[in-house]
Amino acid sequence: MTLIALLAGDGIGPEVVAEARRVLDATGLTLAYEEAPVGGAAYRAAGHPLPPETLALAARADAILFGAVGDPAYDSLERALRPEQAILGLRKALGLFANLRPATLFAGLEDASPLRPDIARRIDLVILRELTGDVYFGEKAQHRTTDGRREGYDIMSYAEDEVRRIATVGFEMAKRRERKLCSVDKANVLETSQLWRDVVIELSADYPEVALTHMYVDNAAMQMVRNPGQFDVIVTGNLFGDILSDQASMCAGSIGMLPSASLRTWSGDTGLYEPIHGSAPDIAGQGKANPCAAILSAAMMLRHSLGQEAAAARIEAAVAAAIAGGARTPDLGGSLATAAMGDAVLAALESGA
Ligand code: NAI
Ligand code: MG
Repeated sequence: MTLIALLAGDGIGPEVVAEARRVLDATGLTLAYEEAPVGGAAYRAAGHPLPPETLALAARADAILFGAVGDPAYDSLERALRPEQAILGLRKALGLFANLRPATLFAGLEDASPLRPDIARRIDLVILRELTGDVYFGEKAQHRTTDGRREGYDIMSYAEDEVRRIATVGFEMAKRRERKLCSVDKANVLETSQLWRDVVIELSADYPEVALTHMYVDNAAMQMVRNPGQFDVIVTGNLFGDILSDQASMCAGSIGMLPSASLRTWSGDTGLYEPIHGSAPDIAGQGKANPCAAILSAAMMLRHSLGQEAAAARIEAAVAAAIAGGARTPDLGGSLATAAMGDAVLAALESGA
């Protein structure tokens, strides 16, 4: 039977994962769940944010549904024991190198975007960020130069196989969407980017049906605000993707609406699925969290890890219908509690089924 590791974590994590689970159950699929503590909850129970049993469950499961970690009570711990290390440890241990962040403006949420409604309405893109390489993992240090000045450095590097595997995910995704792939780099200045661009161009020969373009990252940041509707799939490195994906998510409205997937292959393999938001300690335990990002993450899980495209599409349609019908948590200007928002999605799912 298909096994899902439920790692709800801290803060609003358990509240939103509970709603995602209810929606998954309502699809009629037969799924088995196993829960394990992660983040601050795990530190409390076991003295480590990612205990070996939690990692073992994650490695054994067919997919991981993750809530959030980040309990401010543990901010003073050494870095290796902080709750956030759990998510980094999971990505690294499972080799989850491809981070997918779709950003779509749901009809009715135009007011939630800082962009003009006519511009915001056209957002329907996916940012594909490389997650295990780049300047984040190169050699880094601070030292004093011979004349006594402090200096810091971080080495940016990509090997061609790292570029090829993330670009392959990008082409495969573009093939299934609007067949447009924009590769974002800084090839006018960086050798890392020149290699990136060369490898992406080589690979494009295998995907004649996909229209490939290249954009420098500074221009991409500008275009994301000027005319985000021009993008379909964007593929980029770890650093540029970190910045651009936060920018894109805000253009699409509330952080409570946006899901993500971290994968190691395009489909049919395990993955980690989580809302892009954190543990939101300011609203935790109050029933105010918007569960849509977690629910949409569960839909991505069905699509990419479990081969259940139809059920994934039904869940996404149910969220869209609930929003179009006026269901709003406080982050969207409404007053529905977390569970009531879950109810609205369930009602839409059942009436659409
Ligand atoms: P956050 O995403 O937790 O919260 C930012 C703001 O958005 C807050 O005002 C919060 O109330 C609101 N918000 C977030 N999710 C919401 C939802 N579903 N519905 C309604 N409102 C929502 O980011 P913040 O405050 O920077 O970080 C809090 C903690 O979470 C930190 O410890 C941070 O390290 C951690 N974090 C963990 C992540 C993860 O587990 N992958 C990702 C981002 C942050
Ligand atoms: Mg970020």
